[in-house]
Amino acid sequence: MISVAIDGPAGAGKSTVAKLLAKRLDFMYINTGAMYRVVTLKALENNIEPDDVQKLCELIDSMDMYFDGNDLIVNGVNTSDKIYSPLISQNVSRYAAISEVRQKLVKVQKYISEKFNVVMDGRDIGTVVLKNAPFKFFLIASPEERARRRYNELVKKNIEVDYDSLLKKIIERDYMDSHREIAPLKKADDAIEIDSTNLSIEQVVLIMEEYITKN
Ligand code: DC
Repeated sequence: MISVAIDGPAGAGKSTVAKLLAKRLDFMYINTGAMYRVVTLKALENNIEPDDVQKLCELIDSMDMYFDGNDLIVNGVNTSDKIYSPLISQNVSRYAAISEVRQKLVKVQKYISEKFNVVMDGRDIGTVVLKNAPFKFFLIASPEERARRRYNELVKKNIEVDYDSLLKKIIERDYMDSHREIAPLKKADDAIEIDSTNLSIEQVVLIMEEYITKN
């Protein structure tokens, strides 16, 4: 099986690019952020705090997860419309920092990559989950550009937001994701770094696609 790993900070465009790349390569797209988000959603629904590791593990064991295109289906229910709410975004880092949660989700991610050709995006894909992936990319963009993209996205949805507070949140999330003890966000030594600050989605996908087909 062939795996493509894409890591990088929040808002760098990983999921948009990974989705398109998977389509072009006819690979399965695995959005690992969605998996951490869905655990957060279910934990909040069941009032399970991040430090209640036993309950969290039981919860994850009771979840049957699979990807249907870009959607994550859990116990037969499509979770896509629930997992991107501000409440989940605000809480997900706390649950993603728990080692037992990561171990369980990483196991599922590895299992899928053994069965299918995948484009998998996240924070620790090239460094932990798919250490031996033949293709690894680390996608970055300046915090200002990432805040600007998020701002435009929300304005399009008629959601009122303040650019400065978005920028502040992005910088805070970068700090949390890259300074946590377990599997912090870090470029794998053998990953190719792509700075998308001044590139379109199409340009980024093309760089990746060309690299993969040539190697
Ligand atoms: O990519 P995203 O914003 O949907 O990810 C949600 C959160 O999950 C983010 O705060 C970091 C965490 N995450 C992680 O720790 N490891 C991954 N492989 C993917 C996401």
